[in-house]
Amino acid sequence: MIRLVDVVKEFDGKRKVRALDGVSLEIDRGEMVALVGPSGSGKSTLLNLIGTLDRPTSGEIYIDGQKLSGLSDTELTLLCEGDMTFRAYDIDKFLAYIPHAEIVNGTRIVEQLRERRTQLTTFMYYGNFFVGKLLEAKHIGRGTFTDVGTTYKLCRNEALRRLLPHLNPAVNLEFNAHFLDVALARGFHIVECPVTFHNRVGASKGGNRSNWRALTVGLRMIAGLVAGWPARRK
Ligand SMILES: Nc1ncnc2c1ncn2[C@@H]1O[C@H](COP(=O)(O)OP(=O)(O)O)[C@@H](O)[C@H]1O
Ligand SMILES: [Mg+2]
Repeated sequence: MIRLVDVVKEFDGKRKVRALDGVSLEIDRGEMVALVGPSGSGKSTLLNLIGTLDRPTSGEIYIDGQKLSGLSDTELTLLCEGDMTFRAYDIDKFLAYIPHAEIVNGTRIVEQLRERRTQLTTFMYYGNFFVGKLLEAKHIGRGTFTDVGTTYKLCRNEALRRLLPHLNPAVNLEFNAHFLDVALARGFHIVECPVTFHNRVGASKGGNRSNWRALTVGLRMIAGLVAGWPARRK
């Protein structure tokens, strides 16, 4: 059961925005609720609070009687695409390696762990492998890489906090190669871990539409690794 008591959320910016102004509600287990309102009325803000992604300015949120404000943050962050190609059972494998590394990065280059039909064509398979080896050569001795296109990874939060200021969020489809490159350049310890790769649900906006598209993403990855990534705008 989800219970909100007088929840207020304010954002401090140039001008203070009160996105939620004393919201109280109860949603029972299994109950279906539609949240309706015009753009900017606070729907996403409310969902972020209930999903524990953000904390309220005041008021209290309870999930199954547990007061959220009493909970501390975790020490680990898991990153994952939302296209159903990865599954939660691999978290156990990531957890087994995280005491030995700051970032445990998934790899899809294990034939036995791939579904027969996935979005990883033979072309992309070897493209990823090649860029992985380039990354390895650039940071020799820091890790072994067979795949640079997997978002699925587990990170220690203290490492992420130090890494985030050096990442450029404007790097889009090549982001994972950028992430690994910046992390290695800063001396973070990365371990690759095989994950099971399933066929995706829904159409891809990324590099998985054609070999031509994958080639352009791959070339941009190589350019980033060799010539440097665009600097983060202040
Ligand atoms: N991170 C933020 N920083 C500043 N203002 C924000 C932030 N997130 C949302 N807001 C503001 O809070 C209000 C509610 O936004 P939001 O929850 O996104 O509405 P909805 O999802 O209903 O469209 C808007 O005025 C929006 O500009
Ligand atoms: Mg919204």
